[in-house]
Amino acid sequence: MIEWGISAAVHDAALTVVEGDEILFTSHAERYSGIKNDKHLNADLINAALKFGKPDKIHWYEKPKLRAMRRFLAGQGIVRFSVRQYLEQFGLVGIPVEFAYHHESHAAAGFYTSPFDDAAVLVVDAIGEFDTVTIWNASGEKMKKIWSMEYPKSVGLFYSAMTQRVGLKPNEDEYILMGMAAYGKNKYGLELLNLYNEENLHRGCLWWKPELNTEQDHYDIAASAQWVYEVLFRDLIIRTGNLTNWKQRNLVIMGGCALNCSANSIALEYFPNVWIMPNPGDAGSSLGAIAANNRQKLKWTGPYLGENIETEYPVEKLLTYLLEHGIVGVASGRAEFGPRALGNRSLLADPTRPDIKDKVNAIKRRQKFRPFAPVILEQYAAEYFDMPVEISPYMQFTARCKFPTRFPAIVHADGTSRVQTVNKEQHPGLFELLTKWYEKTGCPMLLNTSLNIKGFPMVNDEKDAEAFQNMYKVAVF
Ligand SMILES: [Fe+2]
Repeated sequence: MIEWGISAAVHDAALTVVEGDEILFTSHAERYSGIKNDKHLNADLINAALKFGKPDKIHWYEKPKLRAMRRFLAGQGIVRFSVRQYLEQFGLVGIPVEFAYHHESHAAAGFYTSPFDDAAVLVVDAIGEFDTVTIWNASGEKMKKIWSMEYPKSVGLFYSAMTQRVGLKPNEDEYILMGMAAYGKNKYGLELLNLYNEENLHRGCLWWKPELNTEQDHYDIAASAQWVYEVLFRDLIIRTGNLTNWKQRNLVIMGGCALNCSANSIALEYFPNVWIMPNPGDAGSSLGAIAANNRQKLKWTGPYLGENIETEYPVEKLLTYLLEHGIVGVASGRAEFGPRALGNRSLLADPTRPDIKDKVNAIKRRQKFRPFAPVILEQYAAEYFDMPVEISPYMQFTARCKFPTRFPAIVHADGTSRVQTVNKEQHPGLFELLTKWYEKTGCPMLLNTSLNIKGFPMVNDEKDAEAFQNMYKVAVF
């Protein structure tokens, strides 16, 4: 039976195709429409999914009626939305639709792709229907909610409010706020934490008007917001431990807040084994909706589950070009599911070259303060970074770089890097490239950032790759 999971109509739509316990395909709508964080499905995405067969059943990632009720109760007006009508416009007619709760989809996406037989699951996001944080006990086919925090209290909405406060786009630019934090001082943390605790937090914080004249003022707000988030996140981790009597050693973290890689390491102080699915936000819930309704483990083979560019991983071409020019694009194999490029739609560069950060920034046209991430051979990770985990295949944790002056392009202002580790099993092509790069240069890592034209989603197919190459005059293989 072919089952589709859909997360759409709010932000960053996605579609997943599953047969039995096999994930056949999963992708964000934006990769096909070219509209960043596109909230709607589109015909090209539907057609890409249909190549794997027509769906016998569709799973929707949340309960739209409950969401509408919450919006109404919050004074945000009446929303009329029919999933059936929404699907009809894409020719999806007469297919049974099953609904899961928003946080249930998040939790299931995490647990049923995790390597654990049982685990505690912590979901932290802005908001689903009413829940904003949930804690679950998961074991085999059972997954039970044991605690929840409800709107208007919301850790995620607090962080989004702060994102908006510094002039960035809420629900989209939170990762930029996180990056800015390293340049700021925690001037307002206690004030904000009090507001969070006393007021209906995000509203209280929206009314909050600090000095906002210089660039440093923005950084200070970012640092303060990150500090508050880390205090609240630690509290949630401890709560999870308490609720499971500290007997559980496995923790799954999901929800958009699980993308806060600066904070994620806190969880490792309390739980030795932590799993975060590489697409923990709402797009990942397209997969989670299926898992939530079926309560069955899915075979997790990695995040390379999207559009396929059917080429051998071009190791030699990449190596030669990198050695000569220091920077190269790769668009090969199946696209990554999730916000991070992990080697199949990546811009790779030599992290030792002093000019490389400015060069890559010029191509990406993004704020100069933002660091890039390294991808490193797994066996050398501990030699170069103070790793909080042994392996980090999805760039979900930050680690202090032991030689920041040698690798200026991939070290942030606070001395940390968002490390991706690679072994042979995980990505044979990328592993071979890094091994040969190491043999030639003595450096076991490369800078790895997503292959995308500024303002557009990641490159998806050959056509996108060609457009990138023509625009930036950087070879893409
Ligand atoms: Fe969510």
